[in-house]
Amino acid sequence: MPGLFPRWMNVLPTLGALGAVGGGTLAIGGVWYYFTPEFWEVGYMPVQPGQGFNHQIHAGKLGMDCRYCHSHVEESRHANVPTVKTCYGCHEEGKLQRVEEKTAFVREAYETNTSIPWRKIHKLPDYAQFSHQPHIAAGVSCFSCHGQIKGMPVVAQAEPLSMGWCLDCHRNPENNLVPTDKVTDLIWVEEWLSTPLDERRDEAHSDMSPEALLDSLRRDPPQHCGACHY
Ligand code: HEC
Ligand code: HEC
Ligand code: HEC
Ligand code: HEC
Ligand code: HEC
Repeated sequence: MPGLFPRWMNVLPTLGALGAVGGGTLAIGGVWYYFTPEFWEVGYMPVQPGQGFNHQIHAGKLGMDCRYCHSHVEESRHANVPTVKTCYGCHEEGKLQRVEEKTAFVREAYETNTSIPWRKIHKLPDYAQFSHQPHIAAGVSCFSCHGQIKGMPVVAQAEPLSMGWCLDCHRNPENNLVPTDKVTDLIWVEEWLSTPLDERRDEAHSDMSPEALLDSLRRDPPQHCGACHY
């Protein structure tokens, strides 16, 4: 099925090809291009503690909704990472014996009342303001900013998070808007976003033409400096 592979993987062959060119202006051009801030953090994938956390299994195979764990994403600036209690609910001793060994670090953290030191992947500089809440409310899916998380055994940064990237969408948001009840349905969203604008249909809005649907989703994101910088 298309879309089960994280989008950042597409960048890898290009990087490989650039490496193979070796010497000369082409390689210098390539280095300059990729090491410009817009690109340097795509693919960032730190090693996580314990056996890590696998989104492909939990959000993909088991179909858990993002908000089960990232429960504040709709109402606050930050999407929280779940506490060890959330994990323990399923990984208490004796509950899921098949993965008991791999989840020992969960019980250890729970029993010693410590948190698992997850390493942060997405990070904006302090001078840039970003909040999840208005984006989710406007129908911007996690997919547009974090890629196909349901296909990621290990989360990697899929988008540059640069100012140019924010503004690209703010100038032309239509292509990234989905019905708000679909924002966390990342497989559905990937298919929706790869369908041409004038052909997008949604069962819940089957009485609307694609144009009327698009119109109902239309938003006007800010482009003035003060919106993102104080
Ligand atoms: C069972 C709990 C759980 C579910 C369900 C879940 N996540 Fe996560 N998520 C985590 C944990 C734990 C981390 C921290 C470890 C890591 O980065 O892998 C995390 C990390 C992330 C990160 C990286 C955060 C950073 O450090 O920048 C993103 C993005 C993310 N999740 C998005 C999603 C999306 C989108 C969904 C739904 C498709 C989802 N998650 C479903 C538990 C969950
Ligand atoms: C419009 C882009 C955008 C959308 C949509 C979006 N995120 Fe994020 N996300 C970001 C950015 C940017 C950061 C880094 C924020 C920072 O450093 O202040 C981030 C950070 C995170 C983090 C790390 C904790 C934090 O808040 O810093 C998690 C977890 C996360 N996102 C999960 C999600 C989930 C789940 C969804 C969908 C329900 C989602 N995001 C939708 C852009 C987005
Ligand atoms: C709703 C129940 C549920 C929750 C909540 C949950 N898990 Fe799991 N987890 C499972 C199931 C079921 C499996 C076994 C999947 C399979 O059959 O492969 C699993 C597998 C795992 C594995 C083994 C993965 C592998 O590579 O085979 C690890 C590690 C793990 N979970 C960590 C966590 C962590 C950390 C959290 C909290 C952020 C968490 N889980 C939350 C149900 C859950
Ligand atoms: C994929 C599209 C997309 C991306 C990427 C995106 N935004 Fe937005 N942004 C929107 C939409 C849509 C709105 C909502 C406009 C509305 O509700 O009228 C919005 C609204 C905002 C607002 C106004 C919030 C409010 O309270 O009204 C700010 C500030 C903002 N975005 C900052 C950012 C920053 C910073 C980034 C980059 C880190 C970013 N956005 C990336 C689509 C996007
Ligand atoms: C939609 C949100 C948004 C708007 C609007 C915006 N910026 Fe930014 N800006 C950002 C983000 C996010 C970064 C951090 C980029 C990074 O980490 O590389 C940034 C970075 C910067 C930087 C640091 C240098 C750089 O390019 O990385 C400057 C200077 C800056 N912005 C000035 C401005 C000015 C002037 C305006 C108005 C014309 C503006 N910004 C409008 C989001 C925005």
